[in-house]
Amino acid sequence: MNIAIDGPAGAGKSTIAKLLAKELGFIYVDTGALYRSMALYFLRKGVKSSDADKISELSNEIEVGLKYIDGAQHVYLNGEDVSGLIRTEEVSSMTSAVSVYPKVRERLLDTQRNIAANNDVIMDGRDIGTNILPNAELKIYLTASIESRAERRYKELKEKGQDVVLDRIKEEIAERDERDKNRETAPLKQAEDAIYLDTSDMTIDEVVDYIKKLAKK
Ligand code: DC
Repeated sequence: MNIAIDGPAGAGKSTIAKLLAKELGFIYVDTGALYRSMALYFLRKGVKSSDADKISELSNEIEVGLKYIDGAQHVYLNGEDVSGLIRTEEVSSMTSAVSVYPKVRERLLDTQRNIAANNDVIMDGRDIGTNILPNAELKIYLTASIESRAERRYKELKEKGQDVVLDRIKEEIAERDERDKNRETAPLKQAEDAIYLDTSDMTIDEVVDYIKKLAKK
């Protein structure tokens, strides 16, 4: 069985999907990590996100893979485990900027489809229900107000010891929303057969229970 969860940054997709995967015995696939790894590669090479030709050319040098160690997803960039290096705001912005390029998206297509074809997965991202897994048995479009998304992200990063400012996070999320929704290739949008869920006033447990019931059905 495949469950697709799409939605904007900070809607709680990964928190919810991780808990659900545990309860249902599914594999959780965080597709953002795949795009983030590619962005890290471009940052290391010092390429500008606006340099479409260079990004497309360099995409051919990149192999991204996933492994599960003690149930946790690890992402590999050309064989190196980069899971701990891809959660900075610098990488977040670069990722949103480079994920507009068809070549970047194409590079990650098979990885995502293969894992879903061979496992029960809960996959989160932006275009899972619309593009990657159009036949997923359950599709959720998870969202929340920009205020609550920014606050959640702020708390998460603070807890990790990062020095962050709430207003700046809000601006970055708004910028990412804008870009993710308006890009030409596979933009963030609700699939026609996806269930819309606004989690602004819901607890994590409420959201997990709700989706679990839908999955069981
Ligand atoms: O889910 P995330 O915050 O880790 O995603 C980071 C960026 O990656 C997001 O701004 C857009 C891009 N992304 C994408 O284009 N398609 C996906 N399936 C997942 C992420």
